[in-house]
Amino acid sequence: MNLIMKMLAAPATVLALWAVSAQAATNDEIAKRLEPVGQVCVQGQECKGMEVAVAAGGGGGAKTPDDVIAKHCNACHGTGLLGAPKIGDTAAWKERADHQGGLDGILAKAITGINAMPPKGTCADCSDDELKGAIKKMSGL
Ligand code: HEC
Repeated sequence: MNLIMKMLAAPATVLALWAVSAQAATNDEIAKRLEPVGQVCVQGQECKGMEVAVAAGGGGGAKTPDDVIAKHCNACHGTGLLGAPKIGDTAAWKERADHQGGLDGILAKAITGINAMPPKGTCADCSDDELKGAIKKMSGL
């Protein structure tokens, strides 16, 4: 290797190491941020970690239908992605509700998931009431 190559190679190595450690630091930070939630939250039980997270997010207490929709449901129901009934398309929601035994029927399907609709619409820590509130708001039922 000639001198020029060596001079180029050294900073490149430093840069590569820096990039790797910067990445590691970021992953550590993310892991730390996720940690309390993962440790404390058990589905169906009171979730101290999330209360703090929600409070810190300005919500405080139960999630509002708007929060749940914006964070979890809108991704699909906003545009009708994958055949999801659209927000505000009451006729489409009513049609489903009529076939599933009303609002509680489609709530049950939302909890377990149905076809491309993931269980609880990805809001794993939503209570049934919070999901129901979101469904009411999206459907207008
Ligand atoms: C990944 C996309 C996706 C997300 C996120 C999502 N949904 Fe859905 N949802 C669907 C699709 C697709 C359907 C239609 C499923 C079918 O009938 O094939 C559906 C259907 C439903 C239904 C009707 C179920 C039935 O019995 O017909 C309800 C209620 C519902 N979603 C509620 C929610 C709620 C509440 C949220 C947010 C907490 C949510 N969904 C988030 C994709 C999604």
